[in-house]
Amino acid sequence: MSLTATDKAHVKAIWSKAGGKAEEIGAEALGRMLEVFPQTKTYFSHYADLSVKSTQVRTHGKKIIDAITSAVNHIDEITGTLSSLSTLHANTLRVDPANFKLLSHTILVVLALYFPADFTPEVHLAVDKFLARVSHVLTDKYR
Ligand code: HEM
Repeated sequence: MSLTATDKAHVKAIWSKAGGKAEEIGAEALGRMLEVFPQTKTYFSHYADLSVKSTQVRTHGKKIIDAITSAVNHIDEITGTLSSLSTLHANTLRVDPANFKLLSHTILVVLALYFPADFTPEVHLAVDKFLARVSHVLTDKYR
């Protein structure tokens, strides 16, 4: 499903708010993924604390949101923008692609919690499509 011009505008609008709260939103989304879908904990077993409050979860949550911010800023060239991150997830981390749906889900939940007035059904759809696109790019190099 490709992103329409309206989808892109919706993604940019809500992300202009989310990007500025990268650590908070990232930690909440990552922490919820680890709590709600405990099978994802295996990838982060080197973290001392997997709760939303953990410094490692906060630091990593910010990195995730910042990476998504660069994809939003280059929404017409997501593949090139996330190329090295795609190599990392496929070749080094070897994250099962199924997990990307889980993180995308918790990111959506957190956006709805933080920005309820902005999170209309149209924005929900646009961000869902956008995160599916990001996930596709990040899982495209698995061989
Ligand atoms: C590392 C982004 C999905 C597991 C990273 C890094 C970024 C990132 C920016 C840091 C790279 C670096 O330091 O050079 C993303 C984005 C995702 C995503 C944008 C999807 C929207 C996932 C999923 C998992 C995962 C679904 C597993 C359930 C990891 C792990 C690391 C990592 C284990 C290394 C963390 C560490 O050692 O601190 N990711 N990621 N990622 N990612 Fe992802």
